[in-house]
Amino acid sequence: MSEANSPVSGESVEVEIDYMELDNIIEKEFGNDKENLIMILQAIQRKFNYIPHPTLAYLSVKIGIPLSQIYGVATFYSTFSLEPRGRNIVSICLGTACHVRGGERVRERIEDSLDIRNGETTQDGRFTLESVRCIGCCSLGPVIKINEDMHGRIASDEVGKILNQYE
Ligand code: FES
Repeated sequence: MSEANSPVSGESVEVEIDYMELDNIIEKEFGNDKENLIMILQAIQRKFNYIPHPTLAYLSVKIGIPLSQIYGVATFYSTFSLEPRGRNIVSICLGTACHVRGGERVRERIEDSLDIRNGETTQDGRFTLESVRCIGCCSLGPVIKINEDMHGRIASDEVGKILNQYE
């Protein structure tokens, strides 16, 4: 595995947090209102592509909810990630319909192309690979979703061309 493509996980990818921008989200968009906790977390994740731990402590002070409670919410919903993720999230469907139509071969091709495994992020921060169980387009299987784009009925040898569309 080349060093440039070594996968990373955890907080090894540091992000710089602009607290003024964070204030814009918490105060201006959501009025410092604890009732908006989930929407605030969604907005933070949209901004950073994950929820950096320091933002949770800051949020706790700003809206007056104990940090443990905020962690409880952030870890309960699988759509939230507390780990750094790449600029592009590749979700490979391994549900039954996609599996029988060659989803595993597609997964292997993605892993080989990016030199990462499920749950990992490329060193350059370009891609994170996640597996999912059915994303509701079974008739299009095998399916991958990259960010908000669905790619259906894909053959494993099309993987490179599809990934190249994302910077
Ligand atoms: S099993 Fe893959 S979309 Fe349903």
